[in-house]
Amino acid sequence: MTAVDPFPRSARYDPAWLEQCRMGPNVLWLCEALCSKLTLRPGMRVLDLGCGRAASSIFLAREYGLRVFANDLWISPTENLARIVDAGLEAEITPIRAEAHELPYAHGYFDVIVSLDAYHYFGTDDLYLKSVLRFLRPGGEIGIVCPGVARELTPDQVPAHLRDLWRADWHTFHSAQWWGLHWAKTELVDVTNAEALPDSHAIWQEFAGHTTEAERAAIQADRGEFLTFARTVATRR
Ligand SMILES: C[S@@+](CC[C@H](N)C(=O)[O-])C[C@H]1O[C@@H](n2cnc3c(N)ncnc32)[C@H](O)[C@@H]1O
Repeated sequence: MTAVDPFPRSARYDPAWLEQCRMGPNVLWLCEALCSKLTLRPGMRVLDLGCGRAASSIFLAREYGLRVFANDLWISPTENLARIVDAGLEAEITPIRAEAHELPYAHGYFDVIVSLDAYHYFGTDDLYLKSVLRFLRPGGEIGIVCPGVARELTPDQVPAHLRDLWRADWHTFHSAQWWGLHWAKTELVDVTNAEALPDSHAIWQEFAGHTTEAERAAIQADRGEFLTFARTVATRR
């Protein structure tokens, strides 16, 4: 991490609590990095799509005074409700189980849609953005952070240290430029940010301490050369 902590809000959260919520890289860091590029006002309605154990939903409600819908598929809303109640945020956060293609919300309901370490599971499909934008009001923002790569890799360019994981499912990792174009070409949004997080390498390194042996080896061998976190933000036209 750089000399000045780039994630001062996240630093206030109990690491043991975050460990209980962990499903991948430090989601508070991803969320704080995303929020720095969003225009957030207290009371805005936010969809946290693929919220996992709802750590980011709690962060969004507590830090920015947002009204959050904590939407996930694998983690039950009953489990997430317990965490939300513990945080004293049951009036601010609604836990929901819904598949990303079957969202149960009114069209135009959200001011902001965020997705952290989740959108690449369902959003690489060219038609997905149009589908999810129905739930965002015109002028609202959508922002995602996904594990990514510094540049797009053809199959023969995948470095040896990433090859096995790539075959498994890391081929869903794309560059920030790829995501920016993926959204811009729809002409449904104006892309306002598409870049690799400046602290990508530090975030991967922290994750290396919490993952499988194969992933740890790949992250260490990579040394920040290919692996990034791609942040993409756009405004619905
Ligand atoms: C790697 S976890 C990340 C969870 C959380 N955002 C975090 O960073 O801790 C990916 C999440 O995406 C959600 N997800 C994957 N596919 C989904 C789908 N088709 N619809 C809704 N959520 C989905 C899963 O339920 C899972 O919790």
